[in-house]
Order: sequence, then structure tokens, then C-alpha cells
Amino acid sequence: MDKSFQRSSLLVTFFSLFFIPVSISVPFIHLHGVNDQCSNAEARSFTQLLRNLSSSPGYCLEIGNGEQDSMSMPLMQQASIACEKVKQMKELSQGYNIVAQSQGNMVARGLIEFCDDAPPVLNYVSLGGPHAGISIIPKCPVGARHPFCQLQESEVYLDSSQDHIAPCGYIKLATEISEYMEHCKFLPKLNNERPNERNSTYKERFTSLQNLVLVMFEGDKIVVPKETCLFGFYPDGATTPLLPPQQTKLYTEDWIGLKTLDDAGKVKFVGVPGDHLEMAHDDVVKYVVPYLQNQLTFSS
Ligand SMILES: *[C@@H]1O[C@H](CO)[C@@H](O)[C@H](O)[C@H]1NC(C)=O
Ligand SMILES: *[C@@H]1O[C@H](CO)[C@@H](O)[C@H](O)[C@H]1NC(C)=O
Repeated sequence: MDKSFQRSSLLVTFFSLFFIPVSISVPFIHLHGVNDQCSNAEARSFTQLLRNLSSSPGYCLEIGNGEQDSMSMPLMQQASIACEKVKQMKELSQGYNIVAQSQGNMVARGLIEFCDDAPPVLNYVSLGGPHAGISIIPKCPVGARHPFCQLQESEVYLDSSQDHIAPCGYIKLATEISEYMEHCKFLPKLNNERPNERNSTYKERFTSLQNLVLVMFEGDKIVVPKETCLFGFYPDGATTPLLPPQQTKLYTEDWIGLKTLDDAGKVKFVGVPGDHLEMAHDDVVKYVVPYLQNQLTFSS
């Protein structure tokens, strides 16, 4: 037997006798927003900033070809691709944290709720996520030519829109609420909104998070109402009054476990200054980084 091998097996024996605990930093994944991709300068530098500040390994998780698929691929499919990718990453197999931006939060929650046989998500930090839907079709940047930019309210719940325009999965129009409930293919399922289709597995999985940090941008003009980032929204079919998260049915009837998590002290509802995703460095340090510094401890 090789000497160094003997030595290392001796060491292993030694450590197992004394159950020396070994800690590792929990890795994180970063999920970018719509019309963005991991290779863009801003997304890259955000992943890197989080790695730098947390000293944890982190990966920007891309879905399909990036920008174009983020606009066009239905969110069910985006979540399912993310699910397969996460399961293939050995680095994540003991559990991981998520930081998601804007639409990336729909993918994040799809991962948490829908992904079978996946490693556990421990902490989840949501930045500007349209969790309860958006009530106004966002304006496209000047010059953008995606079909999304010509979308009319009356077309949002057609299959042709649902199947080819990702944001249609979470647009919730007061004037079309029965169409939304019946034909919107993503958010009603994600939020367990349909009374006859509630799936307790989604709730169990969401409830197993250790920490949920919901960040809203006070100056957000893209995600309307901005309070959706905290699960606040209007009553069905109305555009007023804006209900705080704790007064929505999703919360009071606990469709996905938000109330359970909140009662256990595991939810932070945070408002920060700035327009959509414009987060000050100090706020990143305060509200994101601490949730990326958890450790997993093993007895070896
Ligand atoms: C991360 O840290 C490296 C090494 O200190 C530095 O060169 C880089 O600029 C930092 N990047 C960001 C985005 O903070
Ligand atoms: C609920 O979701 C789980 C996980 O995806 C699935 O296995 C199960 O069949 C679903 N239950 C119902 C009643 O649809």
C-alpha cells in the first residue's frame, strides 16, 4: 500500500474518532431579470460583488440563450430548465441560497416550489420580484422590437402570448381577472391561487426556507404596484385599495406558506430607496450579504 495513502487513511480514522466538525460556506446562485443574461457586464459584476462580499462561492445560472429566452420562453419551461441545471451542479447538492432579480424571482420560486428531488434552498433573497403579479404591462425600452412591446391588454391571456412572452406569466390585469385565473399559465399555479388546484407540496417546500428576504424599491416604476415585491396587491378585479401583504388572501389563507414563514420570524419585508434594481452598496451589504454567509456543518 502506498505510504501517502496509508497516512491519509490514518488521518481519516483519526478525525472520525473525534467527530471534528467541518464547515463549508453555502454556495449561492444568482438569477437575473428579463432581457438580461449572465454574460452582460452588469449581471457579471453583480454575481462577482456578491462573491466578494460574502466570500461564498456563487454562480449566475443561465437559462437557454440568455436575453432572448428570458423574454420569450414561458416561465414554466424556464423553471424546469433551472431545476435540471441545479440538480446537475454537484456544488449545490448539500443545499444552496438564491439571490434573484426581478423576473428571476419567478424562476427562483419555480425552483423552490416545483422542482422535484432537488437540493434544498436555504436562504432566498428576492430583489424587485413581481410576486403577486403586475397590474400594468411594463413599457419596453425605446427601440426594442420584441412582440412583447406591441402587446395589448386584451391579448395577455391568449395562448399565443402565454406561450411566447415570458412576462405574460405574471401580468395580472384587474379588468381581465377571470381570464387571468383561467388562462394565465404561471402565476396562478405558483401562488396556489386556484381553489381547486392548490398543491400542498408547493406550500411545504416554500415553508421550508430558513430565511426569506423580500426587497422592494421605493422608486420602482417598472414593477407596478411596487408592493408586489413584498406580496402586496389589489383585491381580485380591482385597482384599489392596495392591500399590504398581511391583508391579502394569499397570506391570510396561507396558500403558499408565507404566513407560516412570517409567524416563525423568517420573513424580512424590506423597502430600499432607488428605482427598479438600483440598490445602494450599503443596502446590498445590509440585506443580501448576511444571507449568503451561512455555513453547513458536517461531522467527519
Ligand atoms: C472583487 O474582488 C476582486 C479582488 O479583490 C476585485 O478585483 C474586483 O474588482 C471585485 N469585484 C467586484 C465587482 O466587487
Ligand atoms: C403537487 O405537486 C407535486 C410536486 O410537483 C406533484 O408530485 C403532485 O402530483 C402534485 N399534486 C397534485 C394533486 O397535483
